Amino acid sequence: MDFSEVIKNRYSCKKFSDVEVKKEKLDKILEAGRVAPTAKNLQEQHIYVVQSEKGLEAIDKATPCRYQAPVVLVVAYNKNNVFTYPGGKRDSGIEDASIVATHMMLAAYNEGIDSCWINFFNPDELAKALGLPEEEEILMLLDLGIAADGTGALPNHNSRKELTETISYM
Ligand SMILES: Cc1cc2nc3c(=O)[nH]c(=O)nc-3n(C[C@H](O)[C@H](O)[C@H](O)COP(=O)(O)O)c2cc1C
Repeated sequence: MDFSEVIKNRYSCKKFSDVEVKKEKLDKILEAGRVAPTAKNLQEQHIYVVQSEKGLEAIDKATPCRYQAPVVLVVAYNKNNVFTYPGGKRDSGIEDASIVATHMMLAAYNEGIDSCWINFFNPDELAKALGLPEEEEILMLLDLGIAADGTGALPNHNSRKELTETISYM
């Protein structure tokens, strides 16, 4: 798919069908995350592919936002392997994991797989429920699947500020 089509047409899917995500498509999505840039090339991300009944049950306990997606990627990062920026206030963990997640979200659409970025959950509680190692922080969940018949983008998908509102030239 043309890149500009991918970034314009991707939308947050809020109702998935029970059609499976084929392994070759899932592999391409995961590969897009693998090649994402990270600060100092630290690659501190860890992606959990949740598709078992038990795993999806844990997701459903943590959030109402799975929307019946058959696959959920849990995007985490190792908080002990991040780059701390000059000034010491911030580090690369959230940014690096966000870039990985964005690569995968866009790659999914390119593969004909719908998605939704989810942050409406308690990351510490979910990490505990999934048994993640203590050093890993969960950044977000990426629902993956095929939209249910008759569903599509919400009206706010086409409601974006004009460039003049968010860009300044200096
Ligand atoms: C950081 C982030 C967190 C989000 N969290 C949720 C969420 O928890 N539940 C949900 O249904 N949608 C969530 N979304 C989807 C947004 O609501 C959606 O991207 C936005 O309304 C624009 O719609 P569009 O993605 O269809 O263009 C999230 C999106 C982002 C970028």
